Amino acid sequence: MAAAKQLAALTVLAALLVGSVSSQAAYAYGPSPSPTPPTPPPTTPPPPPPSSDNDAGKKLRVGYYRNKCGRYVDVEAIVRKHVSSFDAGMQAGIVRLFFHDCFVRGCDASVLLDPTSDNPVPEKLGIPNFPSLRGYEVIDAAKAEIESRCPGTVSCADIVAFAARDASYFLSSGAISFAMPAGRYDGAVSFANETLPNLPPPFAGLQQLRRMFADKGLDDFDMVTLSGAHSIGRSHCSSFADRLPPSNTSDMDPALADALQGSCASANGTDNTVMQDPVTPDVLDNQYYKNVLARRVLFTSDAALTAGFMTNDLVRAYAELTPYLWQRKFGQAMVKMGRIEIKTAATGEIRKTCRLVNS
Ligand code: HEM
Repeated sequence: MAAAKQLAALTVLAALLVGSVSSQAAYAYGPSPSPTPPTPPPTTPPPPPPSSDNDAGKKLRVGYYRNKCGRYVDVEAIVRKHVSSFDAGMQAGIVRLFFHDCFVRGCDASVLLDPTSDNPVPEKLGIPNFPSLRGYEVIDAAKAEIESRCPGTVSCADIVAFAARDASYFLSSGAISFAMPAGRYDGAVSFANETLPNLPPPFAGLQQLRRMFADKGLDDFDMVTLSGAHSIGRSHCSSFADRLPPSNTSDMDPALADALQGSCASANGTDNTVMQDPVTPDVLDNQYYKNVLARRVLFTSDAALTAGFMTNDLVRAYAELTPYLWQRKFGQAMVKMGRIEIKTAATGEIRKTCRLVNS
C-alpha cells in the first residue's frame, strides 16, 4: 500500500517535470496485458494503416486559417473579439460547450445543431445539455462575422475550439494562454440519446470517470487537469442535490452544504443555480484543487478525484505548487481534448450556419 502510494507520487512528479499530461501507459487501468508471443515473419507486406479519425486529430495545425481568408481577415482575432464581449458566465459556458462537443461524436460542432423536422431531438436537447449548456450565441456572433468576410471556409468546430481557448484566456486574466491547432470539419449527425452514454454524470465515481475519459483517449492526468474548469461558472442545484442535507450522505464540508441548502431552497420548485467555486467564482485558477482538498466542491465527480493515489497526488500538486503548473497543463489538456475524433473534408463539411447542416 505504502509502496503503491509512493510510486504514484513519484510518477506524478516525473510526469509534471517532463511536461507530459498524456502518460497513458503509466496509469492505464484494467488487467495488465499478457506477454506478446513472438510474431512470425510476414509472408506478404502488411496493409497500410487505416486513415482513422485519430490520424485527423494529429494533423490539426496551429495557424491553419492564416492564409485562407486573405490578408485582412484574422479569423482567430474575430473569435477572440466576440468572446471578450460576453460576460464571465457565458465565457464559462463556452469552456463547457467545447467539452460537451468533443465528448459526443468528437469535436465536430454536433452540439450546436438545432432541432429540425428531419432531426427533432439533437444533442443540445440531451439531459446533460438542456437547459444548462450555454454560449451558443457567442459562436453564432463569431460565425456570422467570419462568414460575411470569408464565406464557406471556417468550421464551427474550430470556432468552438478557438472560443474555448479564448474564454480560458479571459477568465484567467491572460495566465492561461496557448495556441489551438485547427482544421476540424463539422459533422452532420447529432442525437440527444448519445449524450448520457458519453458525458460523465456529476454523480460518477472515480472508476466511471476514468472509463469515460479513457474511452475518449484521455488519461487520469487529462481528467484531473481538465476538471479544474470547475473553478468557473455555475451549476443547477439538481446536479448536486443528492449531496445536500437531509439525505446528506456526502463528505461535503458541512458549512458549504448548509449554505448550498439555503441557496437551493425554492418555494415554487425552481432549479436555482450556484457558483461552482465559492472562493474565486469567476476566475479560472487552481483554487478548484484547494476546494477539492477542503471538500468544498459540488459534485461527487469532483470529490472522487482524491479517491486514487495518483489522482489525489495530482490534485495536491496542483493545489500546492505554483499555479503556473496547472495553468500550463490545462492548456495542453484542452489541445489534447480538441483532437478527439476529428472530421475531415471526406467525412464532414464547413457549415454555413452553425445551427444547421448545409442543405
Ligand atoms: C469530470 C467530469 C465532469 C462532470 C461530471 C461535469 C459535470 C458538470 C455539471 C453537472 C455542471 C453543472 C451543470 C448545471 O447544472 O448547470 C458542470 C458545469 C461546468 N463544467 Fe463540468 N463536468 C465535468 C468535466 C468538465 C470538463 C472536462 C470541463 C471543461 C474542460 C468542464 C467545464 C465546466 C464548466 C466551465 C461548467 C460551468 C458552466 C456554466 O457556468 O455554464 N467540466 N459540469
